[in-house]
Amino acid sequence: MMQTKRTIIISNRLPIRIERQHGELHVIPSEGGLATGLGSIYQDEGNVWIGWPGFVPENEQEKESVTAQLASLNLIPVFLTASELEGYYEGFSNEVLWPICHYHPSYTVYDPANWEIYQSVNEKFAQKVKDQDLLDSDDVWIHDYQLMLLPKLIRAHNINLAIGYFQHIPFPPDELFRAIPWRDELLEGLLGADLIAFHTYHDTQHFLNACSHILGIAIQNNSLRKAGRSIYVEVFPMGIDYEKFSGLAQSAAVQQRADEIRTFYNHRKFILSIDRLDYSKGILERLKAFESLLQHYPELYSQVVLYMLVVPSRDTVPKYSELRDEINRVVGHINAVYGTNEWTPISYFYNTYCVEELSALYVAADICLVTSLRDGMNLVCKEFIASKENNDGVLILSEMAGASRELIGPILVNPNAIEQIREAIRTAIVMPVEEQRKRLNDSLEIVKKFNVRHWVHIFFKRLKEIKALQKQELAR
Ligand code: G6P
Repeated sequence: MMQTKRTIIISNRLPIRIERQHGELHVIPSEGGLATGLGSIYQDEGNVWIGWPGFVPENEQEKESVTAQLASLNLIPVFLTASELEGYYEGFSNEVLWPICHYHPSYTVYDPANWEIYQSVNEKFAQKVKDQDLLDSDDVWIHDYQLMLLPKLIRAHNINLAIGYFQHIPFPPDELFRAIPWRDELLEGLLGADLIAFHTYHDTQHFLNACSHILGIAIQNNSLRKAGRSIYVEVFPMGIDYEKFSGLAQSAAVQQRADEIRTFYNHRKFILSIDRLDYSKGILERLKAFESLLQHYPELYSQVVLYMLVVPSRDTVPKYSELRDEINRVVGHINAVYGTNEWTPISYFYNTYCVEELSALYVAADICLVTSLRDGMNLVCKEFIASKENNDGVLILSEMAGASRELIGPILVNPNAIEQIREAIRTAIVMPVEEQRKRLNDSLEIVKKFNVRHWVHIFFKRLKEIKALQKQELAR
């Protein structure tokens, strides 16, 4: 029987996580955009998703039982030890690649031992791929910076395979990337792919410059040649599950919850801020801008509330725990100085919320404030837009987030310009409803059309075209 074409998805995290509750292991599905976008693909027969299941097994028996459970969901776990997680995930991915790619070179920690572990964990992932006995006709899609060496490792095993790589975080200017002691190996690792994709045009240019200036490879438009193979570097801005967010926002349960939230906050102007804990998100700058708003416009006392949700993340990495402590301090300071018995200016939560609660917050919000210092795309702002199909509201968006290159309608701000953010909030507070609707509709059209399913569809379509182009080149 002829085997049909297969698709293999690989990312650091699987679209689920295993949680230990009262000594038992449970599979918790992820609400993330990638999980939704790729759901219809990896769940098809024969296809699989390979990644880390988010927990460290205590023994072989746990590994076997989780592997068996996940197999029925087309998921293949890569188990990592505590020391592998420390070196590969915390140390190299999040203390070298993350800060460099987010333009924070002073936050890097270059430890050769972590580089060794990053290499060996990428090899571990590659072994799982090899175990799949892939055919030339199969597609492999690798996601994100934790697996930069994987394209080359897989290519070495199967020269003709279609390999795509998508980087969800920015690619920095080549002179920043040059700082990494192992930059050549990382770039070479990526060049194992046929299609290397980013959210924005700037990221593609930075990557091509790095190939040219660091590796000395000649660039032709958006492609380059390596070992007789053409490799394409292209822009694919990621979308969200529009239907899900728009549908939830219009559901009776979410509408009711949004009303409760508005009532609880006495119908004050509700400014929403949602992020993972991360220094790239500009959370402290946002707090400074909010304090500046209160200082400059005392008439706004008791008229506004900043609802700030920070989702716990990577708090075993020192820069993250330091940031968490600093946010606690600054929020405490603002509430203590400006708050009254009747009014707390900032409602701050360090927690993980279910998607229904997030949806109710989007619906309740008058303003969504996204001030990332650097962000690959930023999906929060797109989720806010999708939640406003029949509603009003204003999006204030950092020009350093990939989404600012795509959306028409938000008030754009430089996240380092505190006064500019302050004035943008003030403009949003007094913006006439007709203008709010017009701006939202302009963004809405884009978020609706270029949704996550469209993104997945055009990525695979392009990968197929590239394989055909490469075949034509070989035949010449
Ligand atoms: C960003 C990265 C992802 C990562 C996610 C959560 O969106 O691009 O690769 O999975 O953050 O971070 P974590 O370190 O918890 O996986």
